[in-house]
Amino acid sequence: MGKFKLAMVAAMSLTNGIGKDGGLPWRLKGEMAYFRNLTSHVSDGDKQRGVRNAVIMGRKTWASIPPKFRPLSGRINIVISRTQSAQDLGVDPASKDVRVFASVEDALQYLAGPPSGDTAAIGRVFVIGGAQLYAELLDLDNSIATVDKLLVTRILAPQYDCDAHFAEFRTREQLDADADLAKKVAPAAIGAPVEALLEKHLPQLLEQSRWTQASPQALRDYLGTSVPAALADSPDLVSREDETWYQYQLWMRQD
Ligand SMILES: NC(=O)c1ccc[n+]([C@@H]2O[C@H](COP(=O)([O-])OP(=O)(O)OC[C@H]3O[C@@H](n4cnc5c(N)ncnc54)[C@H](OP(=O)(O)O)[C@@H]3O)[C@@H](O)[C@H]2O)c1
Repeated sequence: MGKFKLAMVAAMSLTNGIGKDGGLPWRLKGEMAYFRNLTSHVSDGDKQRGVRNAVIMGRKTWASIPPKFRPLSGRINIVISRTQSAQDLGVDPASKDVRVFASVEDALQYLAGPPSGDTAAIGRVFVIGGAQLYAELLDLDNSIATVDKLLVTRILAPQYDCDAHFAEFRTREQLDADADLAKKVAPAAIGAPVEALLEKHLPQLLEQSRWTQASPQALRDYLGTSVPAALADSPDLVSREDETWYQYQLWMRQD
């Protein structure tokens, strides 16, 4: 099998904040349903062949999922830990739903390996966090795999306090586009403190773009039938839950 493509999935603030105190800074039911649909979706034909997608996560993200919701159903869960074995994590080593690997390389070899009992039918492979795993894999481009897509939920407003971040992958122009959208949809939530936050963030931006934001239609095409019904009427894929505004985005690596 040739080199395979990985997609990263992350919800992040205007300045790429993704976590707080080991958990998510926000609680967004609709966004969680989007994540579930996006990472579970396989075409009808593939479904008949028993294809399942895989989600790769760091041990701390695994630990942050409430036990009754893990493993994430309908997907092959790949957990990476240097220090803990499947047994330590209370996972059946023979499970076809969860596999624990001591390194990213071992996990990728497993996913890329020749079909066997449980790898016979793997569809899309998603890296779902957390901060450490995103940082290690964002620029991955080795002989086994490359990350070519970012599925970002951009939390536009309000600005949540975060202590874990996703590496900056945008230029000034790309950040400005997100900030302008935030000002348009939630003007009351964007003021001087947010401007100061953005100003402080500027040194992290890339000089030259490495990622291109794809059109909403390209994201819809990628999602296939898993497009949330609520987004059918939203041309820019912007959603609101209570006071939180966010946009579903697809970014493609530039060659
Ligand atoms: N907003 C989002 O979309 C999103 C998504 C996921 C997570 N998060 C947030 O991200 C935060 C967690 O991130 P985190 O960075 O603390 O943890 P993490 O990346 O989930 O897990 C880190 C752990 O993974 C293992 N690991 C990482 N790289 C490894 C490697 N190369 N080889 C072997 N093992 C490796 C290590 O486990 P051992 O210590 O066991 O060796 C390490 O301690 C939480 O706040 C969570 O809510 C946010």
